[in-house]
Amino acid sequence: MAFKKFIIRSYEGHSDRAKVEDLERRCKVGPSESVLDTMGDPMCRIRNSPIYIMLVAEMENELVGVIQGLIKMVTVHTHPPKDMAKLGYVLGLRVSPHSRRNGVGSSLVQRLEEWFTSNDVEYAYMATEKENHASMNLFMEKFCYTKFRTPTILINPVNSHLFEISSDIEIAMVKVEEAESLYRRFMGSTEFFPSDIENILRNKLNLGTWVAYFKGDSDFCLDGKVPNSWAMVSVWNCGEIFKLKIGKAPLSCMLFTKSWSLIGRMFPCMKLPTLPNFFSPFGFYFMYGLYQEGPLSGKLVRALCKFVHNMASRSEQCKIIVTEIGGKDDLIHHIPHWKLLSCEDLWCIKALNNEGTNKFHELSNTQPPTTLFVDPREV
Ligand SMILES: CC(C)(COP(=O)(O)OP(=O)(O)OC[C@H]1O[C@@H](n2cnc3c(N)ncnc32)[C@H](O)[C@@H]1OP(=O)(O)O)[C@@H](O)C(=O)NCCC(=O)NCCS
Repeated sequence: MAFKKFIIRSYEGHSDRAKVEDLERRCKVGPSESVLDTMGDPMCRIRNSPIYIMLVAEMENELVGVIQGLIKMVTVHTHPPKDMAKLGYVLGLRVSPHSRRNGVGSSLVQRLEEWFTSNDVEYAYMATEKENHASMNLFMEKFCYTKFRTPTILINPVNSHLFEISSDIEIAMVKVEEAESLYRRFMGSTEFFPSDIENILRNKLNLGTWVAYFKGDSDFCLDGKVPNSWAMVSVWNCGEIFKLKIGKAPLSCMLFTKSWSLIGRMFPCMKLPTLPNFFSPFGFYFMYGLYQEGPLSGKLVRALCKFVHNMASRSEQCKIIVTEIGGKDDLIHHIPHWKLLSCEDLWCIKALNNEGTNKFHELSNTQPPTTLFVDPREV
């Protein structure tokens, strides 16, 4: 069968917007067949990053593929410690179902990597689900990406019941400058910590940063002393820019959901939280920059999570709270989440230039650090 020719070019907002949105709606991603509604702005997932691009593939005036990329500086764990690297993140690769296995996806990835290289990017990385075989084969076999980190995505449904926060705990919102100073001081050497953290904290999608500590513990002196035990979190409102819809929940999840609502109906006195309907578009909050320090900080993390939940339950659109942490991070024990809804993410990486290649061996062969900074702009 002779394949038709296609061209790769930059996205043009006025003529491509509706076509890209239509393509996004037609492309179900991964085994959960999730679909993204970008609410009129297909670039919404990249435009908050320092440098970004969107490329499209066009075949006989039809838009058959799209890819997005962004560039940023982050902390990586090579020697000397706290080294920085220029990273390119690949996201939003979609090829129209009837144009697949025709090299469109590969050409889009190749052109994006060329753009990264022309911008002196040292590494390209991407995130996918392990079960997305098409994406895994494309990146790992064809483009030689290697498995790098396996963070855990934790999901907790939002319900109308408010959680009580222990009266011995103080939760305070901190100003952007204070949050930046705390993050640079305590998370600056965390893997993938973005050098432009201030841009994230100042973004309109950022709802704020909160610290928790025990009343009566030593005071918070932002440039100096911190309490013996304390914790911090920031919240990003993803629902403001896109909505998510799940096409197919795993069988175990569906059975659980059905039994859960049955029990809820039979025993209303139990006040079971209602499960959101994942099959119609919903928004979510993303908790990021979670940090804990001190012997009693686990309790403080739980209090912060309750606080964020209560904030989300007052919002009409927010149906779940999502967070992503390093695969071996102890935080998992303190962040409320539903195991059936939570999953493992897979990050794959590739060196793009000599400098990157030299550091690459070290980077990809070191034991994954327990903590990881997941940039809310890349959700
Ligand atoms: C993943 C996707 C972009 C691939 O696009 P594509 O244009 O079909 O890719 P290509 O034709 O360039 O294929 C390149 C290689 O990827 C692999 N591949 C592509 N589709 C595959 C599939 N269904 N099963 C297994 N491997 C597949 C193969 O190794 C293929 O090389 P080959 O054709 O020489 O065997 C496309 O299937 C898609 O849009 N899927 C839905 C969205 C998605 O999952 N995006 C990735 C998010 S990370």
